[in-house]
Amino acid sequence: MAMSQTNLASVQSAPSVAAAEPDVAVSARQISKTYGEVEALRSLSLEFPRGQLTSLLGPSGCGKTTLLKIVAGLLEPDSGEILVNGKAVTGPGPDRAFVFQDFALLPWASVIRNVAFGLELRGVAKSEREDVARKYIGNVGLAGFENAYPHELSGGMRQRVGLARALSVDADVLLMDEPFSAVDEQTRRKFQEDLLSLVQNENKTFIFVTHSIEEAVYVSDQIAILLPRPSRVLEVIRPSGFRDSGAVNIRRDPEYLDIVDKIWASLRSYVE
Ligand SMILES: Nc1ncnc2c1ncn2[C@@H]1O[C@H](COP(=O)(O)OP(=O)(O)OP(=O)(O)O)[C@@H](O)[C@H]1O
Ligand SMILES: [Mg+2]
Repeated sequence: MAMSQTNLASVQSAPSVAAAEPDVAVSARQISKTYGEVEALRSLSLEFPRGQLTSLLGPSGCGKTTLLKIVAGLLEPDSGEILVNGKAVTGPGPDRAFVFQDFALLPWASVIRNVAFGLELRGVAKSEREDVARKYIGNVGLAGFENAYPHELSGGMRQRVGLARALSVDADVLLMDEPFSAVDEQTRRKFQEDLLSLVQNENKTFIFVTHSIEEAVYVSDQIAILLPRPSRVLEVIRPSGFRDSGAVNIRRDPEYLDIVDKIWASLRSYVE
């Protein structure tokens, strides 16, 4: 995915845009959310370009999961609004799919049934939904495991089932909350490579939460650095130069290394 921005270009998000730009799939406008005494988000604004992956990176407890849930329509903000394809979110909808950290698989159902489950809920005929499910089971590297049950899979494989299910419902927007946090380093790297090709091939908008700076820089078209609670966007970074150098070369690219350093410099003051 070629970016035309200059290296390390940082753009502050515009909090009050009159109408959604056509290339913006999701926009969060001045979102605030307080839980009792805890003010999680304060007037957070951010735009998510269509067909791209945006990572949310920020200190633990800054409200990343809260923001994803609000975009998903699972949680209502106290103020502000989320637009998806220009339309205000009022609840969950078929245009968004959530890949939960704990995958939320049905333990009694096979891989193919789990993957096809979103379509089953929508009343899609069995043969049709299983065709779709098979395609995505293949795309996430699980061909041959269609009839296995969740307990027969590793944590990483279960995560792939969750991802295949989210892809099967053909939502425009995929919300991923630390989807790779529970897997070992090798599996995680493979996942990251797979995610890059999914973003390139699927023309979906990914909103991806991670704690790993390296992971964010590796997989993202855009990285939003969030401030500690009450959270807002500190800055948005758009890596540009190394996307075309091939998945295996990204980590050696000087721009990749510069951005990782720059983000760490921004975030370290909040960790100390
Ligand atoms: N249901 C809830 N009730 C009360 N407080 C909550 C609730 N959910 C989240 N919070 C609080 O809101 C803040 C933001 O939580 P959230 O889970 O969104 O953070 P996060 O950035 O996803 O953190 P982490 O990186 O640790 O996953 C935290 O201080 C948390 O304690
Ligand atoms: Mg979280």
